[in-house]
Amino acid sequence: MSSKSNAVEDHLQSAVHLPNYWEILSKAGKRITDNKLRSAGKQYLTGGKSIMLSGGLPNQKPLPIKKIQFTMSDGHEISLSDKEVAHANSYGLSEGITELRDWLLGLHKLEHKPPQLTRKDHPEPFALTITNGITDGIRTCFHILLDEGDSVLMERETYSNTLTLLQLFAASPVAVNTDEDGINAKDLEAIMSSWPEVHPHSKRPRVMYITPACSNPTGYTWSEQNMVNVYKVCRKYDVIIIEDSAYYFLQFGERQRTFQSIDVDGRVIRLDTFSKTIGAGYRLGWISGPSTLTDRYVLSMSQYTAHPCVLSQIMINHILQYWGYETFNKQMIYTSEIYRNNAEILASALDKYLTGLATWSFPRGGMFMWLKINDIADTSVIMREASQAGVSLISGDFFVPEFKPTCYIRLSFSMADMEDIEQGIKIFADVIKAKKKECLCNGTQ
Ligand SMILES: Cc1ncc(COP(=O)(O)O)c(C=O)c1O
Repeated sequence: MSSKSNAVEDHLQSAVHLPNYWEILSKAGKRITDNKLRSAGKQYLTGGKSIMLSGGLPNQKPLPIKKIQFTMSDGHEISLSDKEVAHANSYGLSEGITELRDWLLGLHKLEHKPPQLTRKDHPEPFALTITNGITDGIRTCFHILLDEGDSVLMERETYSNTLTLLQLFAASPVAVNTDEDGINAKDLEAIMSSWPEVHPHSKRPRVMYITPACSNPTGYTWSEQNMVNVYKVCRKYDVIIIEDSAYYFLQFGERQRTFQSIDVDGRVIRLDTFSKTIGAGYRLGWISGPSTLTDRYVLSMSQYTAHPCVLSQIMINHILQYWGYETFNKQMIYTSEIYRNNAEILASALDKYLTGLATWSFPRGGMFMWLKINDIADTSVIMREASQAGVSLISGDFFVPEFKPTCYIRLSFSMADMEDIEQGIKIFADVIKAKKKECLCNGTQ
């Protein structure tokens, strides 16, 4: 066993430091209660027998959809039963369909082995519930965890939507220095220990939001040693970790450990999605972690969106039951290989056209490469000019707090085909060269 995995093994033996969930919850998270009408109808939704004189469920007779079937890529046909069609035509449970949740729970047991499940004496139960995708997952987590004026720890560059969402919650991002191994644990410790002196009027952060597998935008995947180091700091300051894992199944080769897999205390809320592996338009994902928090999540879901789309759940459940865990795994490998192939095509085009103009590293998976453009301090102008020349890419300022100018560009290798990638990078290189020439002439940058 390597010394790296020894560090993880030692950590996994450590005592549980149960988070003070109640202290960490936002005012809304503490206040939220069940949707009274939905909880009154729960008996009916869970198959209990009663003469229905209570709910606002639609009468099935006039509803237009009576048959639903679909064909999978391998030709397998799936037809929904009449009962399933009737369910898709009606309301569902806020926590999602039980069979789908059970299947996903089995997946977590195989994939992450959460200490909350493996340690039989853990005081906090582990729970899993269905979401409308990670976007909704992040919003709902912020709703139950953040008050106005709170601060949230995050990677130096992060998912752009999370930054804009934080603005909506009037909360502030605290970007911690990050490299290819993840957030720098020493810098995190320094920020947390000096917080009361540096920010005497604001609360020390209680929440960290991170994307440790194939980050959007950087493509970085955290090392397991660094995960343990950062986890220890979070434990010391009683921080809840939101692990956004949109690209977990798109890792090239062996999948990296997750924060959930080292979460001895029950302080990690993990967000997964079917968007990149089954389809983004179905708007389906799942959240897993300590039940005190997932229960609050379900209450928030019941108040704001009622429940995740029943039809999407039934369809995806059928697909997963048909595949089973082994075929699911093969399908994930097949999917990630397509992305790896695209990444290799992009990397060779970059070698050909951008050597000397930019630096980058090959990602461990996902959809993105993160380029540092030499001698250009604000890449937003490159984004604009590349767009005029017919190439779309995103400048680095989209991914940093306050959207400040940066020298980075995010390139995606998910969609473009081989010839387009080569052509696009050639145009991109020409735009950079023209900009540099212009800067030299003007004596700017
Ligand atoms: C880091 C990250 N989180 C979440 C999402 C959105 O996930 P979902 O489609 O499940 O809402 C994305 C999509 O691009 C993403 O990059």
